[in-house]
Amino acid sequence: MDQANGLREMVKKKAYNINELKVVKTCSAGSSSPRVIAVTSGKGGVGKTNIVGNLAISLSRLGKRVLILDGDLGLANIDIIFGLNPVYNIKHVINGEKDLADIIVKGPEEICIIPAGSGVHELVHLTDGQKLNLLNEFDTLNENFDILLIDTGAGISSNIIYFNIAAQERIVVATCEPSSITDAYALMKVMFTQHGTKSFKLLVNMVNDAEEARSVFESLSNAVVRFLKDISLEYVGFIPKDDNFQRAVRQQRAVLQRYPESKSSKGFCELAQRLLSNSTNVPPDGNIKFFWRKLMSYH
Ligand SMILES: Nc1ncnc2c1ncn2[C@@H]1O[C@H](COP(=O)(O)OP(=O)(O)OP(=O)(O)O)[C@@H](O)[C@H]1O
Ligand SMILES: [Mg+2]
Repeated sequence: MDQANGLREMVKKKAYNINELKVVKTCSAGSSSPRVIAVTSGKGGVGKTNIVGNLAISLSRLGKRVLILDGDLGLANIDIIFGLNPVYNIKHVINGEKDLADIIVKGPEEICIIPAGSGVHELVHLTDGQKLNLLNEFDTLNENFDILLIDTGAGISSNIIYFNIAAQERIVVATCEPSSITDAYALMKVMFTQHGTKSFKLLVNMVNDAEEARSVFESLSNAVVRFLKDISLEYVGFIPKDDNFQRAVRQQRAVLQRYPESKSSKGFCELAQRLLSNSTNVPPDGNIKFFWRKLMSYH
């Protein structure tokens, strides 16, 4: 809360400049193009928002400058997880009432957040003038961040699909519940058959152990190989079911902050390391401006 108040004060005084977002960290070695990673799911309530928050922290601890786009219209969004209370959102930028720098809030550990709020719906229905303004604003972000993480919300509504196809990487979150597995499959099927999206990463959440997570991956992977032949589904690991995770949620904090030694915290550290270790597979078009341009081109 204190951080959010501080930011609001800065915004009020107009002392908050986009350059202040520049965090003194080493840039990703050898890669000048930021990664844009959407975290998504077919079924709701599988842990996406908490995964985005904790993954952002672990990536930040590994020296990456992380920006989160909150595309989740649900109640338990990223502000709640970080205990923030943003005043403005992307709608105010679209309307021309605020600059991008005015709406970006700082979360824990130097993470920055773009609250999308109800502006999410408007992002894909802009006039050409609005698009140009937004793209100019987003231009600055490319230099200031290494990774843009997007919390897409759940399901196959058009906004969620657009976030997913505009991003260069997609982490699909599933649990071992059968409905979560079938909905994850349905989401990939829609993106593949209707938009030609072929590459997905799978993260399994809320499982007892590695074996349970593997079996979720195998059932999805078998269905993909059989019915959606051209899709590549890469297994990026699992986050164990953890009571401390839920305790942290109740305290409006990330588990990595409150219980860094707990099993789910360790899962997030491993996930961040794994994602960074295969950064050579990132497509060359993976940058933030490209993401926004692509997103806004859908009608
Ligand atoms: N690894 C875990 N261990 C224990 N509980 C978890 C774990 N992951 C998620 N949860 C529980 O699941 C709840 C839902 O998480 P979260 O809000 O992040 O899901 P979501 O996918 O973003 O939901 P929505 O689709 O509604 O946006 C959390 O409040 C937490 O209680
Ligand atoms: Mg959510």
